[in-house]
Amino acid sequence: MAVNFPHSTSQPLLEVKDLCVSIPSYGRSVALIEHISFTLREREILGLVGESGSGKSVTATAIMGLLDTPGLKITGSVRFRGQELVGLSARKMRAIRGRDIAMIFQDPMTAFTPVYTVGWQIDEQIMAHERLSRKQARERTVQLLAEMGVPDPTRTANRYPHQLSGGLRQRAVIAMALSCNPTLLIADEPTTALDVTVQAQILELISTLRDTHGSSVLLITHDMGVVAETCDSVMVLYSGRIAETGLAEALFAHPRHPYTTALLNSIPPFYGERPHRLPAIAGTPPAPHERPAGCAFSPRCHDAQTICSTIPPLSPAGNGQQAACFFSTSGQQEH
Ligand SMILES: Nc1ncnc2c1ncn2[C@@H]1O[C@H](COP(=O)(O)OP(=O)(O)OP(=O)(O)O)[C@@H](O)[C@H]1O
Ligand SMILES: [Mg+2]
Repeated sequence: MAVNFPHSTSQPLLEVKDLCVSIPSYGRSVALIEHISFTLREREILGLVGESGSGKSVTATAIMGLLDTPGLKITGSVRFRGQELVGLSARKMRAIRGRDIAMIFQDPMTAFTPVYTVGWQIDEQIMAHERLSRKQARERTVQLLAEMGVPDPTRTANRYPHQLSGGLRQRAVIAMALSCNPTLLIADEPTTALDVTVQAQILELISTLRDTHGSSVLLITHDMGVVAETCDSVMVLYSGRIAETGLAEALFAHPRHPYTTALLNSIPPFYGERPHRLPAIAGTPPAPHERPAGCAFSPRCHDAQTICSTIPPLSPAGNGQQAACFFSTSGQQEH
């Protein structure tokens, strides 16, 4: 079932339907992600959230056509402005990457090679997609770095990645991702390696991209606090499946899935005294090959019942939200 956000009047940019990724393991097929469906509209910021191993990066790299593990199988549909990306040739996909869709990868050290200056690498990215001289490309690079709030951008462009602080390097990574004016930016944990103040600045930068560059953003994070600061809508993943989706405001006010509630309880309060320890969710998420039958969250869920041994479908749960829980707190079904 596709997840739509009825509030938004803007056009769908990315429509993901029933996306599944599986790998062969000891003679059987193991799903890394299952039945992922969502729509991202123009200028929307969608947060993809979940604990480590929930399938966030697999979802993003499948959309980008960058999963190349032998034997890996991708089914379903990813439409970008109506064009199907699943099954597209490597050459066509390469043209779309960088020009229309750009990705900031989870590991910040992989974005730049250490042996060239940051400016040179951004120039190269620009020149790969447009017929520009090095001088013209450099002008664009310096302008982009300035837009990303990099002080003294001309000098910074001539520095090597290791000479920049973490915050500056991440600004440069975002500048490189935006160098070809992509309509869609996929940012995989873009602030995890940064300290809290710099993290806030980068999130601020990302949330202004829709106004400054007209971009839509798929923002991947394990941190509900980051979602609260930045996103219009949210998709919560658990063990490779959608647990809940909805508008950020509605979902924060009334989480419908016990997993969303647990994630929200692990955000430090914005005001007042900070608790000595935040409640963590007891237990760990299952690995894909150890996913239990039925609801994958049920072994960690206080509300689990016998019926949870079958997989709960993603269903409307009020307020435009959808939740995959038989006991979603919309009051549709009582315990
Ligand atoms: N190429 C692969 N082959 C086999 N298993 C994989 C592959 N890539 C990811 N996985 C497994 O798929 C699951 C989801 O991984 P993924 O990297 O998407 O998680 P994530 O939500 O991005 O987590 P994190 O917050 O740690 O980045 C994990 O259990 C991971 O071990
Ligand atoms: Mg990841």
